[in-house]
Amino acid sequence: MSALPQYGKHLHPQEKMRAMVIDQYGGPDVLREASVPRPVPKRGQVLVRTKFIGVNPKDVVVRKGKFQVATGKRFPIIVGHDIAGEVVEVGPGADLALGEHVFGMINDFAGRAYAEYAAVDASQLGRAPSSIDLRLAAAVPLAAQTALQGLRDDAEIAPRQNVLINGASGGVGVFAVQIAKILGANVTAVCSHRNIDLVRELGADDVIDYTETELVTLSQRFDAFYDVFGNYSFNKVKHLLTPRGTYVQTIPSSRIFKDIARTFVRKQRAKLVLVRSRRSQLDWLRQQIDGSHLRVVLDRCFPLSKVADAHRYMETKRARGKVVLEVA
Ligand SMILES: NC(=O)c1ccc[n+]([C@@H]2O[C@H](COP(=O)([O-])OP(=O)(O)OC[C@H]3O[C@@H](n4cnc5c(N)ncnc54)[C@H](OP(=O)(O)O)[C@@H]3O)[C@@H](O)[C@H]2O)c1
Repeated sequence: MSALPQYGKHLHPQEKMRAMVIDQYGGPDVLREASVPRPVPKRGQVLVRTKFIGVNPKDVVVRKGKFQVATGKRFPIIVGHDIAGEVVEVGPGADLALGEHVFGMINDFAGRAYAEYAAVDASQLGRAPSSIDLRLAAAVPLAAQTALQGLRDDAEIAPRQNVLINGASGGVGVFAVQIAKILGANVTAVCSHRNIDLVRELGADDVIDYTETELVTLSQRFDAFYDVFGNYSFNKVKHLLTPRGTYVQTIPSSRIFKDIARTFVRKQRAKLVLVRSRRSQLDWLRQQIDGSHLRVVLDRCFPLSKVADAHRYMETKRARGKVVLEVA
């Protein structure tokens, strides 16, 4: 009996858990450790004991209060979206098993991942890859699904098409380079000098060092320009697109919404990826990882208590691959 008390019915709403919360929007120092009620899974949800948590630029944006319209002012807020851990309670109608190792992304805008437990819709989680540990699995969901959705669903890239990935060495970029190759594309990766070897190892056919070459001067034409880093615009790069090429942006702004509306009935299109977690996508990613087609590039792992340092590091915009937190 001693190994089982973590499971199932005994979990009680009054039980507490450790979480990193914010009581106001602001700099990394607004993140503080708190003891908060452990969530109870609702219909369709499972309770996951988190082992590792992925850190994403979106967490920083939420912490700063840039999307208060969506995240509100009901504090404390538990930030974070990416988790990997073990199912310890199954809510009614949820289709994951007790004890299963899972990974996934919480679709709520503020998230609620920076905690020892998270109650998550089972549809936003998938079985974790068996060939990597949960530390690496936690690095996958948000970034890799952004890469997959941007390339497959928005740019609709096909085999032998030419794809440019700007920001190829960051959290999303390292997956985007590999996923574009899996989808059969010829990949031009854009990064700074220090990451050229990395993106080549990941499969890039050509690499452009953005500190030496201004992208708008290129003579090549691309079927898709995936602006992962987000410092271009449709207007700036449309001359680099093939007649039916697609520009995909990751950062919401009034400009991209205007470009989407303007190009809606044109052959050259502007699109914005807004990542959502889905079981089918996580299953596809798991298969690619377990089939050794997709590698996880982990830059740093911080203890959960050092989440403020992890945020400071993310804000340098120099992460090489992914950053995760370990829940001790
Ligand atoms: N809309 C959505 O659903 C969605 C989802 C995920 C992410 N995003 C957004 O996508 C962006 C990228 O996310 P991420 O996780 O990949 O970020 P990240 O991991 O912080 O990206 C860091 C990378 O950016 C590169 N970089 C820095 N300056 C650059 C420049 N001027 N040109 C090209 N690359 C540059 C760095 O490479 P070097 O060191 O070589 O310069 C570094 O490897 C963020 O703004 C994020 O908020 C949006």
